[in-house]
Amino acid sequence: MDLKKIIKNDIYEILKGYLQIDDIVVEYPKDRKMADYAIPCFGLAKIMKKNPNDIALMIKDSIKNEIYEKIEVVNGYVNIFLNKKKITKLILETILSEKENYGSNDIGKGKTIVIDYSSPNIAKPFGVGHLRSTVIGNALKHICEKNGYKVIGINYLGDWGTQFGKLIAAYKRWGDEETVKKNPIDELKNLYVKFHAEAEKNPDLEEEGRKYFKALEDGDKECLMLWEWFKNESIKEFNKTYELLGVTNFDSYHGEAFYNDKMDKVVDELKEKGLLETDEGAEIIRLDEDLPPALIKRSDGATLYITRDLAAVFYRKKTYNFDEALYVVGNEQTLHFKQLKEVLKKMGYPWYNDIHHISFGMVLQDGKKMSTRYGKSVKLYDVLLEAIGLARKYIEERNADLDNKDEVSRQIGVGAVIFNDLKNYRTNDIEFNLEDILKFEGETGPYIQYTYARIQSLLSHKQNIKIDYNNIDINEYTWNVVFKLYSFGEYIRRSKERYDPSEIAKYLIDLAQDFNKLYANEKFIDNNKELTEFRLTVSETVAIVLKVGMRLLGVDVTNKM
Ligand code: ARG
Repeated sequence: MDLKKIIKNDIYEILKGYLQIDDIVVEYPKDRKMADYAIPCFGLAKIMKKNPNDIALMIKDSIKNEIYEKIEVVNGYVNIFLNKKKITKLILETILSEKENYGSNDIGKGKTIVIDYSSPNIAKPFGVGHLRSTVIGNALKHICEKNGYKVIGINYLGDWGTQFGKLIAAYKRWGDEETVKKNPIDELKNLYVKFHAEAEKNPDLEEEGRKYFKALEDGDKECLMLWEWFKNESIKEFNKTYELLGVTNFDSYHGEAFYNDKMDKVVDELKEKGLLETDEGAEIIRLDEDLPPALIKRSDGATLYITRDLAAVFYRKKTYNFDEALYVVGNEQTLHFKQLKEVLKKMGYPWYNDIHHISFGMVLQDGKKMSTRYGKSVKLYDVLLEAIGLARKYIEERNADLDNKDEVSRQIGVGAVIFNDLKNYRTNDIEFNLEDILKFEGETGPYIQYTYARIQSLLSHKQNIKIDYNNIDINEYTWNVVFKLYSFGEYIRRSKERYDPSEIAKYLIDLAQDFNKLYANEKFIDNNKELTEFRLTVSETVAIVLKVGMRLLGVDVTNKM
């Protein structure tokens, strides 16, 4: 059901002889008290060479449909007021029958999107930056699916690169098997940090690291064994975090190493196409558009991040024949993705245009970056545990008898972290303060979960009697809620177009706020049975939409909290 479309069609019926349907614009007025929809007639006036007000009057006089209650003409606008009873019945019944499918569309039918997200680096802690990629990517996956696309989620593990040469060098110099086994990620991180500290004093170390990476690329047995070990320990550790987050639905875990034997082909093709140039022994591609050249092979023959990304994108194109490829990676890699696209363009692949870098801002604490460099790392797993602990404290204070406290604490704590991450436009930096994001009031995950749970307890009063909507007075508070419910689909479309989950998060905050205003102003359990039933039906549909929306973001709701 798309009211804008219905209105557009009705107006087109009137103006058909003069213009095209897409010349007609249907907007929401700035002030929703002015009308439900407004049609500006200025553009139409230009095309029809008439006065805007005259066109507005013409529309007002001829438009017919039982869903319109009243039409007004104001300063070149047609203001449309809907018949609230008819529309309300339609919307609520639609939601009750479509349930979790409400808001879906088939814009993406027959199309495939691959999303590269999370992609943490082996032998390094899973940091807050990877949290952003994980939750934004996971939400985008759900959102694209809701828009009818087939989606392939790829966790492109950072399991290859010069850092493994350094790590092997460090391990061989200072490492101890027992210590690493006891506490793999921390120990490996310490070794890595130590390598950098020592390398400042002793520059030969860098060379040693490069040598080990080269040995690894050449298939040296011992190096490969160490690498495999580091990798397995890391994945075990990452999985703990994924489980807490509830993100376990990757379709592929092919990391960088998977492309080791697939790079030669790309390099050959680059050579054939005359794009490679030797520069001080290294192979590079010169790029236009003020971009620095892309380094494809070092002078010692070692490959680079972009070489692997090229091999990966060809593999993905061949395997999935994607219509769009999204890379959910922080702002700091903007140049890398520009270079990647530019290389594809130079190679003559028009689909370079389907590659989108979905960038995002940093996570700040008290205005400063939560850094992972030089050992000051912030481990996401610990942050999540802290959030869960705090949620648990709130539950003990408010509802100590709750049955499944462990699971509810996880849902609230983790949900709060995810929601905080997604509620702002993704390229903005986000401020991370546990106390704030766990508040039950304000623009938080717990606020929405709380609204949902409150509705669940209300619903025990529902009697499932039939409602005659002619008897129902749709007041302003109610109408705001019903109209919000109706607009869900629009936000779903927009969040895909903008690749931005915050469209959904903000919508959910608005919906919960509108509902809570209604709740504060009306008596929900009334002597009038029909009215009670109506209010509870509104509540039920709000709960359905809150749940569907939170699921899109990757957050659970809970019946009691
Ligand atoms: N592992 C990389 C990092 O943490 C991110 C990988 C992003 N994906 C890609 N195809 N380059 O910086």
